[in-house]
Amino acid sequence: MFSNLDDYREAAKRFLPEFAFCYLEGGSEDGVTLRRNRAAFERITFEPKMMVDVTAVGTGTELCGKYAAWPAVVGPTGLNGLYRREAEESLARAAHRFGLPFVLSTASTSLLEDVRQCSDGELWLQLYVQRDRRIAEDMMARARGCGYSTLVLTVDTPVPGQRDHYARTGFKLPLRWTPRLLWDVVTHPRWTATVGIHGIPQLVNLARSAGLGANIEAQAAALGSQMDMSLEWHDIAWLRRHWQGKILIKGLLSVADAKRAAQHEADGVVLSNHGGRQLDGAPSAIEMLPHVVACMPRGFEVYIDGGVRRGSDIAKAVALGAKGTLLGRAPLYGLAAAGIDGAIAVLAQLNRELETCLRLLGCADINALTDAYLLGNCVSALEFE
Ligand code: FNR
Repeated sequence: MFSNLDDYREAAKRFLPEFAFCYLEGGSEDGVTLRRNRAAFERITFEPKMMVDVTAVGTGTELCGKYAAWPAVVGPTGLNGLYRREAEESLARAAHRFGLPFVLSTASTSLLEDVRQCSDGELWLQLYVQRDRRIAEDMMARARGCGYSTLVLTVDTPVPGQRDHYARTGFKLPLRWTPRLLWDVVTHPRWTATVGIHGIPQLVNLARSAGLGANIEAQAAALGSQMDMSLEWHDIAWLRRHWQGKILIKGLLSVADAKRAAQHEADGVVLSNHGGRQLDGAPSAIEMLPHVVACMPRGFEVYIDGGVRRGSDIAKAVALGAKGTLLGRAPLYGLAAAGIDGAIAVLAQLNRELETCLRLLGCADINALTDAYLLGNCVSALEFE
């Protein structure tokens, strides 16, 4: 029905009230970093190899010690219940269907236990740490108890980035019903009838660990004023005491920080600028990737995210040394456009595109994909003047 991710994005835009679409789509401040995420991918050029048998192509790989059908992870995004009911359950099911891990956000609108109930797939937990460390400790214990395998500690959010669209659309937690917001909702009747009618979704996961009940004001504070801004590298040792599985540090953008993560015995990093939603003016993850990979010890896993919209973007990241890519907005476009079927369709599209890309590149196995498949000067092309 749709030919590419842009079509899903457009359908999501039609379905959602403006405040919800802007929450999904928006970047911080002037959107410089948001645009850079796409621009960086566009600057990478392939060097295909012809006359190679690509009758069968292999995309299987290992992510954090477990088999994944291709090098992608459905990444953590908060407040997904703004788009559809049971959003996280749908994303987890869609990811499992394609043999990919799903990362549940601390700011999820479904309980981590409920997400586990509906999927036998690989589940990872994304952690934001509040000043009261017992909240994170409780969430880790709950996740461990339900078989979540990998912890993704997000460290680029001591405070939320300045997102101008919040003021424009009137979105904030708790929601205050202004005439503008009411008009926004009334003019999107399909969303109102299926999602809005049930009220603004709650941050139930965080609420359970923080003992907050249905108090949305307190939930919002836990993600805002109560975030622990004092987090430092030595705190990884604290995480290790509470988490026996793999630990990835998400939100790094420099060689020096990636080295520190390795020294403090993280299992890997996710290079990320949070989809251009935090520090505007930050570099994109893909442009830092070759520099970071060159300095990391063997076995240390480097993931990237930000701007992945095509299967060929995944191939570019792997060619530059990424273990895998996290998908942020891409599956959300599908989810918002058409519920679980839309999320599945987006993943199917990316999977098809990745296989097509490998065949056109003359690379029959993704594990053999290196920068030999990129035009020689593309790493320097990534260095923006
Ligand atoms: C995010 N992201 C994010 N990251 C995280 O660690 N915890 C979270 O709760 C959220 N929430 C969130 C909400 C929304 C709506 C978006 C779009 C993103 C960041 C996310 O994990 C990822 O880093 C980016 O989305 C990647 O960029 P793309 O793929 O969206 O361009």
